[in-house]
Amino acid sequence: MEEKNEVTAREAGGQHVHDYFGRTSVDRGHFHTFTGSTNVQTVVVGGHAHEYANVTRVAENHVHRMHGVSSVQMPVMMGHVHRLQGTTTVDDNHSHVYDVYTGLQRVPRNVRRGRFFGPFRLKAEGAEPPEEPRPRRKSRVRTPEADEKP
Ligand SMILES: [Fe+2]
Ligand SMILES: [Fe+2]
Repeated sequence: MEEKNEVTAREAGGQHVHDYFGRTSVDRGHFHTFTGSTNVQTVVVGGHAHEYANVTRVAENHVHRMHGVSSVQMPVMMGHVHRLQGTTTVDDNHSHVYDVYTGLQRVPRNVRRGRFFGPFRLKAEGAEPPEEPRPRRKSRVRTPEADEKP
């Protein structure tokens, strides 16, 4: 019981995203494939959901856009997935429908992690010159030169 609580807490605390891929329905004699990654989760009734948005791949010289909000989480082994259902935008006078499940949760890349990564923040106005590169760490390999020094 305690272990379960721990997992739930960790899941709720950490931001995560899901990758997904699939294909649309066939309409006007063609379909589109697509891949994407959701946004990080937002709290909704019953748990959490993810916004997603992507452009399909080209078929018959056109693409469609897809965007929406996923279902709430569905527990599976090793974590959870979400269902993405909807209709693409209308392009070339038609749209397609899609219905896929995402992959498992994963840690998002390019997350801002606060002050620790301070140097990446843009300095206010003045555009100061970049700091001197840090001196290279001294080699730990013993060399005759290093041995000579006191
Ligand atoms: Fe999720
Ligand atoms: Fe299409």
